[in-house]
Amino acid sequence: MLPVVYDGVQLRIVTPDDVQNFLRLLRSPGVYEGLASVPRSPDLEFAKTRINQVCENIATGNGLQLIGQSEGEVVGTIGVYINWKHRHGGLGYHLDTPARGKGIASRMLQGLLNHCFDQIGLHRIWAETFVDNESSRRLLVRNGFSFEGVKRQTYLKEDRYLDVEMWAMLATDPRPWKEQTS
Ligand SMILES: CC(C)(COP(=O)(O)OP(=O)(O)OC[C@H]1O[C@@H](n2cnc3c(N)ncnc32)[C@H](O)[C@@H]1OP(=O)(O)O)[C@@H](O)C(=O)NCCC(=O)NCCS
Repeated sequence: MLPVVYDGVQLRIVTPDDVQNFLRLLRSPGVYEGLASVPRSPDLEFAKTRINQVCENIATGNGLQLIGQSEGEVVGTIGVYINWKHRHGGLGYHLDTPARGKGIASRMLQGLLNHCFDQIGLHRIWAETFVDNESSRRLLVRNGFSFEGVKRQTYLKEDRYLDVEMWAMLATDPRPWKEQTS
């Protein structure tokens, strides 16, 4: 159930009032490089458009976007775009720089996965990550995702076609964090 405090990280659903936080997070180092559809210098209009899209997806049940807060500060966001026909969802996530390397993204991911599998009944959550995105790959490995292969030249960025790795977790897969705490 949301909002929730998950292992010290508060997770709540994004609202249009988060637009300044959203903009700050979109401007964090590595976000342009790590995401397929974020411009190098996102402006307020881009953040507003993006947040309106995710709020519309939430309202229609086709997505979920969470804000992560640690010690009262907004530190990151994680979302899933849902395909209900096949009960799967595609992930996106990014963290403000000072919050990285502390396990906060892992806790946000774990909270979102628990919610998607146990509360709303999704069967498969997948993530695409550029082949050179080590921190994203480590996050997925650490949290029990399976590597499914490379999708060649999937995104066109700065006149280059980029390969992405496909990762996924099923509702029936082991969740390493549950095993750790049991
Ligand atoms: C991808 C991203 C969210 C990963 O964030 P992160 O902070 O590295 O991820 P985690 O929360 O799992 O933290 C793990 C790191 O914290 C360390 N850590 C410290 N305390 C920890 C704890 N209690 N639990 C887990 N890890 C902990 C781990 O050792 C690990 O460090 P390592 O990667 O050097 O081994 C972040 O790098 C980011 O926002 N990148 C830019 C956007 C992006 O690329 N998004 C992905 C698009 S596909």
